[in-house]
Amino acid sequence: MPKQPKYKHYIWELPVRYCHWINVLSIVILAVTGFFIGSPYNFGGSASDFSMGWLRFVHFVAAYAFAVSVVSRVIWSLIGNKYAGWREFFPFATASGREKMVKMLRYYMFLDKKVPETFGHNPMATTAYVALFGLYMMMMLTGFALYAQFAPGGFMHKSLGLMYMMFSSQGMRLAHHLGLWFIAGFIINHVYSAILMDIKEHDGEISSIFSGFKYRIKKPE
Ligand code: HEM
Ligand code: HEM
Repeated sequence: MPKQPKYKHYIWELPVRYCHWINVLSIVILAVTGFFIGSPYNFGGSASDFSMGWLRFVHFVAAYAFAVSVVSRVIWSLIGNKYAGWREFFPFATASGREKMVKMLRYYMFLDKKVPETFGHNPMATTAYVALFGLYMMMMLTGFALYAQFAPGGFMHKSLGLMYMMFSSQGMRLAHHLGLWFIAGFIINHVYSAILMDIKEHDGEISSIFSGFKYRIKKPE
């Protein structure tokens, strides 16, 4: 009979949970509408059908929601609790963080049977989140650079001048398209890991991203 967790602790504050679910919703919308932008389909069967125009419009609305949510989460990493803080995302920068990473990696590689108890973020997950954040930046920069071409000389177009100097439009479009599949790869791994940790750690992992609370056997420090 496993020991029952005794301590309930508030980990994910409201802005962390809001940003998580706004990102999820906007990414699903961006991925579906983006897929159709990349492989257009004539829904109405006539030349005057505007379905693809609406899909692009929805892509841009979701893109703004996504950008605001990502920027808000970055700001919250400077003012939120220690579990939300930016330091959590660089476990490899400290000796104790590296030790936790090695333990978690050993578990993932089937070298250790016992899952290390993590309370805030899993250190391997935060390392993946840093890579994901890099992808978010790339998607926003290429996305807004492509978008701003519809208003040459405007504020957005001028602000992204460096992007046009460094990359061709087709290069940006290809990178933007590839980003969809990298993010899809992350999601498969992320949802699998969340379910795995929920089952193995008995800490309410999945409900924590809805409620904010996690449970543990040892008293939280
Ligand atoms: C997770 C985020 C996103 C995903 C998965 C995504 C996905 C895609 C995909 C697959 C395409 C089609 C590319 C092609 O093959 O031509 C596309 C097009 C586009 N996306 Fe995104 N996108 C995302 C975020 C954004 C953002 C933040 C913007 C900013 C406005 C944006 C603006 C655009 C624009 C302007 C196009 C080209 C539309 C056109 O040529 O008609 N996207 N997106
Ligand atoms: C588009 C899909 C998703 C993306 C891009 C995504 C991304 C992320 C990110 C970046 C975090 C870190 C949160 C932060 O500190 O701000 C996170 C946490 C979390 N996500 Fe997701 N998520 C997605 C879908 C889901 C789904 C469907 C579930 C539920 C099965 C889920 C469960 C969790 C849990 C439990 C955490 C907190 C655990 C931890 O980070 O150690 N996510 N997710």
